[in-house]
Amino acid sequence: MERTLAPPERRVARVSGVERLGSYHLIGAEDATGPEPQPGQFYMLSSERGWGGREGERPYLPRAFSHARARASDGGVALDFLLEVVGPGTGCLSVLAPGEGLALVGPLGLGFDLEARAGRALLVGGGIGVAPLLCLEEQLVRTRQEARVLLGFRTAGHAQAAALFMGEPAVVTDDGSVGRQAFVTELLREELDADPAAHVLACGPPPMLEAVRALCAERETPAQLALESGMACGFGACFGCVVPTREGYLRLCVDGPVLNAERLESALFPGAGH
Ligand SMILES: Cc1cc2nc3c(=O)[nH]c(=O)nc-3n(C[C@H](O)[C@H](O)[C@H](O)COP(=O)(O)OP(=O)(O)OC[C@H]3O[C@@H](n4cnc5c(N)ncnc54)[C@H](O)[C@@H]3O)c2cc1C
Ligand code: FES
Repeated sequence: MERTLAPPERRVARVSGVERLGSYHLIGAEDATGPEPQPGQFYMLSSERGWGGREGERPYLPRAFSHARARASDGGVALDFLLEVVGPGTGCLSVLAPGEGLALVGPLGLGFDLEARAGRALLVGGGIGVAPLLCLEEQLVRTRQEARVLLGFRTAGHAQAAALFMGEPAVVTDDGSVGRQAFVTELLREELDADPAAHVLACGPPPMLEAVRALCAERETPAQLALESGMACGFGACFGCVVPTREGYLRLCVDGPVLNAERLESALFPGAGH
């Protein structure tokens, strides 16, 4: 079975900057010794200081984040992470200052399978799930594969992340403040009507991924889904991230987080999260 061998260590990368981008934060960090990651892989992140160090201080465990961009730099990798502040971990990371330490383990897991395929790639992202699609788009452009990016956000503040993409992504919002008021699966349905030979690579909240899975299953469209579940270790030791598939339970951190949609009966996992 395919496995990723990440460097077995917690390293400290230096933060190069934290930028506010509408409702999100973009964190840049220099990973001086790490290997270059593949789109769809992830890192377990924590701040070097102020992360569960004192009594009552939260969070205790690192948190999982997909890299949004990665560029080779001076023997290491310059990484960008896009995050939405939803709790103590993302809160700590969002206030890091340039020069501070970002502790990381990774790159972990199995990312998107980028073997060249006939037909266009449709990249479908919802909310903070657009993060891994940024480096995925770059890679497809680099390898001259035709790609179209379809994005859905809650509001105009969240939709500012669309500006990070290279091409002209199609954008819809829940409130109609940018693009038309629709879910991104409506855009996907229209694209598949026009081009039934396309294949799909998607990341977003579970209800969106389940709608993408069901639509692709109905049309026999090949689809890869970058999934999420609560991850405590990130490298296969705790079984906190198991999800049900047609082949039984899988640990999403080592067997995923990207899975072929046909392996799933549903992308909604009861009891997932933490
Ligand atoms: C492979 C992977 C890649 C990820 N990439 C990114 C990324 O690029 N950017 C980003 O912002 N986030 C990403 N996440 C999500 C991020 O790891 C979680 O939101 C994390 O728990 C946030 O930590 P916190 O301490 O801020 O909030 P927490 O205290 O952990 O959680 C805050 C709230 O979110 C809910 N919640 C958190 N995680 C989950 C989950 N997995 N399923 C269901 N509910 C949940 C909690 O119940 C709570 O209500 C990724 C997760 C995975 C597994
Ligand atoms: S997160 Fe620990 S086994 Fe997957």
